[in-house]
Amino acid sequence: MQTLISILETKLRAALNGIAQIEPQVTIATDARFGDYQTNVAMVLAKQQRANPRQLATQIIERLDVDDICENPEIAGAGFINLRIKNDFLKKRVADIFSDEMLGVPSAGRRKKIVLDFSGPNIAKPMHVGHIRSTIIGDTLARVARFLGHEVVTDNHLGDWGTQFGKVIYGWKNWRDEQALATHPVEELVRLYKKANALAEADEMVLRACRDELVKLQSGDPENVAIWRKCVELSWKEFEQMYSLLDVRFDEHLGESAYNDRLATLVAKLEKSGIAEESEGALCVFFRDNPVLADKPALIRKSDGGFLYATTDLATLEYRMERWQPDEIWYVVGAPQALHFDQVFGVAQKMGIDAKLRFIPFGSILGEDRKLMKTRSGDNVQLRDLLEEAQQRALAMVEQKNPAMPDEEKKQIAQIIGIGAVKYADLSQARMTDYVFSWDKMLSLQGNTAPYLQNAYVRIRSIFRKLDGDWKAPAEFVLADPAELSLAKKLMQFGETVPQVLDDFRPNILANYLYELANTFHTFYEACPVLKADEPVRSSRLALCDLTARILGLGLALLGIRVPEKM
Ligand code: ARG
Repeated sequence: MQTLISILETKLRAALNGIAQIEPQVTIATDARFGDYQTNVAMVLAKQQRANPRQLATQIIERLDVDDICENPEIAGAGFINLRIKNDFLKKRVADIFSDEMLGVPSAGRRKKIVLDFSGPNIAKPMHVGHIRSTIIGDTLARVARFLGHEVVTDNHLGDWGTQFGKVIYGWKNWRDEQALATHPVEELVRLYKKANALAEADEMVLRACRDELVKLQSGDPENVAIWRKCVELSWKEFEQMYSLLDVRFDEHLGESAYNDRLATLVAKLEKSGIAEESEGALCVFFRDNPVLADKPALIRKSDGGFLYATTDLATLEYRMERWQPDEIWYVVGAPQALHFDQVFGVAQKMGIDAKLRFIPFGSILGEDRKLMKTRSGDNVQLRDLLEEAQQRALAMVEQKNPAMPDEEKKQIAQIIGIGAVKYADLSQARMTDYVFSWDKMLSLQGNTAPYLQNAYVRIRSIFRKLDGDWKAPAEFVLADPAELSLAKKLMQFGETVPQVLDDFRPNILANYLYELANTFHTFYEACPVLKADEPVRSSRLALCDLTARILGLGLALLGIRVPEKM
């Protein structure tokens, strides 16, 4: 279904035909007093033509054919054209959305194939909150892109190869606790790594022993390879539990190790083609004509012959191009890796990689002290503990509200609320801002939170449970009360909002829309009786309630958040 914005833009384009070559943009009006939609096209054009914007606006309006959609367009301020939707049009529009499978969201014009690289935790290293944000944001982008009709391959680029394994294997051989490995593998591997790391710092002998283990692993020593394999397997099992709790799925989880065999060939190719050159014993790619990267070459082989993070990323890129021929590859990785991706993308360009590469960074999660979030003992927060606590806290909430509910049901609802709260707290923030992690705020039933939205959904569903007798969608919506009109207009904006999430990768646009929708619904529900109203108003209001619930449910689902039927 085409959005109203794009219908209006088409009409404007027709009006401009012959006056100017310009792409008109229509936006949702910021202040409902001046109309529902607006365009600044006359102002943009006036700048281009050094003409009077209000005069141009008048000229455009004269040629604009929107009689069936809008009241007479008005000119405001420096030359805005304001458009107010006619009630008759709105009624039809809401009815169309009501019976549309995608609830008014248009399918993407051109279907793209996208490889989405996100999450990427490292085996035997502490998982930091950056991995949590990447997981939550990446999953939402995958959901939205798929919903819009794109073909998405999600690939978890696990850090399953690296110098940490010398220490881990040394620790494994000396101190491993089988019991802990069975129940908390990630934590246990991190403990082994940290202990070896600390000892190696103090004791040259240990440092050398760790290095020997690493060299043995790299040269294929069967014992060390078997230990490494076991580490990856155990960690992946625990990660999978987390992903399943988070309702996040990957098509592939090809870790860094999957590309080991390609590194030497790739590097040789880069050297032979002159893309890479030797510098002080190492092999580098220089970006001499790029002012930002001029003195920041990408290092692809160290002087000792070892390969690097960037080398692996280039081999990964080459593999992805061969296997999927994607139009775009999206990397959801924390802002500190900006330089790394600038360099990787720079080399990719020289290699002639023909896909749009997008680095999608994000800010940090802060503790209540506004410093990077850590546990009380100063360690990185374990995802496992975080999700556990979220569910515990949500369970206390559910228990307080529904003491008589069966335990199993309480737990299920607590999971939906707790995990939803953590995700929403993240997704409702502008991607690049650092935000403060606050249990009380994210679990509150008031304000811009998941529980607030879930509760709005549950309240609407409960209206339908109280309904005795059948209910049928109305032949025509009745939109008379101002609160009905506002709600209908808000419902119509869903289709305009969802595609915007991908414009600049901003899930918070959708989150904020859902929050506004829930608020608009509450105003409507206070002003307009539903079950007690007479027909045909009653059916029309029930349909507005039903559509609101469906949009809340779908919108939250696109954010990877589930809704309970009770709470
Ligand atoms: N394992 C990396 C880290 O922890 C993240 C991987 C991101 N993806 C990539 N293709 N480099 O920093």
